[in-house]
Amino acid sequence: MAAQFLCPAETLVDGGAGVRFTVEFNARQLAAFAVRFDGAVHGYLNQCAHVPMELDWQEGRFFESSGLYLICATHGAMYEPDSGLCVGGPCRGASLTKLRVEEREGKIFWVPEAPYRPAQTADNAQAGRAA
Ligand code: FES
Repeated sequence: MAAQFLCPAETLVDGGAGVRFTVEFNARQLAAFAVRFDGAVHGYLNQCAHVPMELDWQEGRFFESSGLYLICATHGAMYEPDSGLCVGGPCRGASLTKLRVEEREGKIFWVPEAPYRPAQTADNAQAGRAA
């Protein structure tokens, strides 16, 4: 499936705010996000491994204050940003669902892989045109 443009590369700062996007799974729309950590970009479904709630209480804020871990704002699960593994909190040992994101020529893309497909949202349609 064609890569979906998410944002210019400079939008994702190491340990900083993430970019949210939407994917389709079984005819349902699910929230997802991309962040940068240690120079590389990583993408995940925005769904805690504990209870399927979105991680960011304040939109786009996925890192805890040190910038070393992703944190679920609801009950505090901490995840390694590069692997998605939960290393603290109620779902220790479980993992976020990883999505393939890539950085190319100054842009960040989500590369859809089954079972996830591009969602038909206004946002994604606009992003697709910009790719
Ligand atoms: S819902 Fe995320 S830690 Fe409980």
